[in-house]
Amino acid sequence: MLCISITSGKGGVGKSIICANLGVALSELGYSVALVDADIEGATLGLLLGYNLNDDATLHDYLSGNATEEEVLKRVSPMLNVVFGSVQLTALMKELKLDRLERLTSWLKERHDLVLIDTAPGFEEDAFAAIKASDAVIIVLNPDILSVTGALKVRIVAKREGKHILGVVVNKAGHEYDIPTEELEAILEEEVLAVIKDDPTIRNSLLEGTPLVSAYPHSPASQGIKELAEKVIEKLHHTGREASG
Ligand SMILES: Nc1ncnc2c1ncn2[C@@H]1O[C@H](COP(=O)(O)OP(=O)(O)OP(=O)(O)O)[C@@H](O)[C@H]1O
Ligand SMILES: [Mg+2]
Repeated sequence: MLCISITSGKGGVGKSIICANLGVALSELGYSVALVDADIEGATLGLLLGYNLNDDATLHDYLSGNATEEEVLKRVSPMLNVVFGSVQLTALMKELKLDRLERLTSWLKERHDLVLIDTAPGFEEDAFAAIKASDAVIIVLNPDILSVTGALKVRIVAKREGKHILGVVVNKAGHEYDIPTEELEAILEEEVLAVIKDDPTIRNSLLEGTPLVSAYPHSPASQGIKELAEKVIEKLHHTGREASG
């Protein structure tokens, strides 16, 4: 129904952790979700969801024209499907047609309530392609000035592409010198959808290869991600009402 890309501009702010766990949280709320790992050079959703790719077809095979939509879509749980990215260096040597991403997300949207794209950091071709292939974006940042700069840039790019900005997610929060949420909203002129705590439990979930919201549902970051899931659903219904009204 709706495709949202998880963007940031700056790298390492927590896009992939949020994408994977938001996908799990939304599927646990009863929504059918597809995730796409569109970080072409740095795919991590397989690791985050504890999925062993073996010889499975990936997004790279789809973009190089060597696999169909059905072949690349993996069922992780009854309500959660994922198109993983290859972690093999050889996959990057192939000629990838990034404009095929849009065809994939259209196909996925027809079959799911929500499609979430994990995007590459920066403003290279793959990050643009992900934004183009989505209807809306969520901007992830950390409450520091370096990450705000990236967020401001990605906001401009998304707006220029005519994409709806669902809002901002503040991640790794809870420190003394954090930029306050109201200030972030004022600088970015966007709503903060959720504030996710800097949470060491994430390391345990990474070691165990299990998503945080499943392994540690009561941890501070899981709480923030669940709040984000509720907010996304609220926005989804609002967007649906707008479209039908
Ligand atoms: N809320 C959090 N609390 C503690 N650590 C976190 C949190 N969110 C993310 N991290 C850690 O920050 C690092 C970067 O996270 P992640 O890979 O999700 O970021 P990213 O934005 O996807 O990075 P990239 O731009 O390289 O794709 C990881 O080591 C992750 O465990
Ligand atoms: Mg990432």
